[in-house]
Amino acid sequence: MNFSDSEIVNSIMTDQGHKPAPSPEQADIIFVNTCSIRDNAERKVWDRLKYFRSLRTKKHQDKVVGVLGCMAERIREKFLDEHKLADLVVGPDAYRDIPNLLAQVDDGRKAVNVILSLEETYADIAPVRTTGNGSTAFVSIMRGCDNMCSFCVVPFTRGRERSRSAESIIQEIQVLSDSGYKEVTVLGQNVNSYSDNGVSFAELMYRASQVNPNMRIRFSTSHPKDFPDELLTVIQKQPNICNYIHIPAQSGNSEVLKRMRRPYTREEYLSLIDRMRELIPGVALSTDIITGFCGETEEQHADTLSLMDKVKYDLAYMFAYSERERTLAHRKYEDDVPEEVKKRRLSEIIDLQMKNQEELNREEVGKVHLVLVEGTSKRDENQVNGRTDTNKMVVFNREEYAPGDYVAVRITDYTSATLKGEALYKSSIPEFALDKQPAMA
Ligand code: 5AD
Ligand code: SF4
Repeated sequence: MNFSDSEIVNSIMTDQGHKPAPSPEQADIIFVNTCSIRDNAERKVWDRLKYFRSLRTKKHQDKVVGVLGCMAERIREKFLDEHKLADLVVGPDAYRDIPNLLAQVDDGRKAVNVILSLEETYADIAPVRTTGNGSTAFVSIMRGCDNMCSFCVVPFTRGRERSRSAESIIQEIQVLSDSGYKEVTVLGQNVNSYSDNGVSFAELMYRASQVNPNMRIRFSTSHPKDFPDELLTVIQKQPNICNYIHIPAQSGNSEVLKRMRRPYTREEYLSLIDRMRELIPGVALSTDIITGFCGETEEQHADTLSLMDKVKYDLAYMFAYSERERTLAHRKYEDDVPEEVKKRRLSEIIDLQMKNQEELNREEVGKVHLVLVEGTSKRDENQVNGRTDTNKMVVFNREEYAPGDYVAVRITDYTSATLKGEALYKSSIPEFALDKQPAMA
């Protein structure tokens, strides 16, 4: 979401005639796009800001430092007054105001806009794409969140949930397709509650899949409270909608889920997973897990481990609980699981996930996947990497393949994090879907 926001800010700055600087040291203006989700994310920002402040030397007295995003909204006074680390502070709904705010700074004033909006979706701003090698792109379809999970600061920093018009989304995907992009990831805090004048998320996904049958569509994130069969069916039927669902459980214990204000039980979550696997055979699943939430007992922690072992996630993002001001958990519960217990539980969770991932990856050996080449492997420049439809990273010999190519790859080896393979032939989503049919029959 922050990458996507930075691309919007980049577009606003480019329209004003600014150009990217080669480095922070040489820049006239530095923006730090911030995240408040956990304390360590915020700590990194403070360190970066101190460094950027130190760049304001005699030679560079006019260097402007701005704080954008969730932290701006959360702790604006501290940046401007207490620590004097920033000249301007801009919340997630105020990016359009950046040119005015920069003018204020030029006049020698501090500038702040952290007003949250009920409507802003930046629908008409064409993001300047800076991530993804020219073949993959993010498209933000909604902003904010109304879910109010008790641990989470997002509803306070990003405001109310609002959906962008379906028309502007489809148009953006069309432009990406025309410019040669091969994969779009549709983004929102909870895409399943997308709604625009009667267009549901399932309908939006269907329309997105029709833009170009050789363009992959991914989406993130889905809340388990509302995952309709209609959406599962669209994913299953459209070959270019990826068979991969990020469906955060957060905990495997119903009591903890209740305290987290996640409106489902362990059993309901597990039946949803069964339903997903029934309607989309071979679907890959990933989750977010928070360990050491207020009042979590050893038994409740064991329930999270057992849930993970039952589901066998292809990927998991795992965190120790980090108390955030203003949240319900902060007001109502005590952050009473000691740090060392949180750490130990987190490493148990990570160990289990690594073991499960390795087992799942072992089962991939011998299978043929369609891989979208993204770039050169970090370890070996004679190899390229890319992801399967199920979001697994695969590395294979470069040969004649380039970013943006779809290649049928046979998996030959694995680790817990990556698959290795041998390229068979260049293909496309529709061709590969046809090739696969006899094998599936
Ligand atoms: N502490 C730890 N993890 C958190 N997340 C959200 N808030 C917190 C918090 N206070 C995690 C959740 C969410 C992911 C984006 O970040 O797992 O799904
Ligand atoms: Fe935070 Fe819950 Fe909204 Fe996700 S759904 S952003 S965890 S409040």
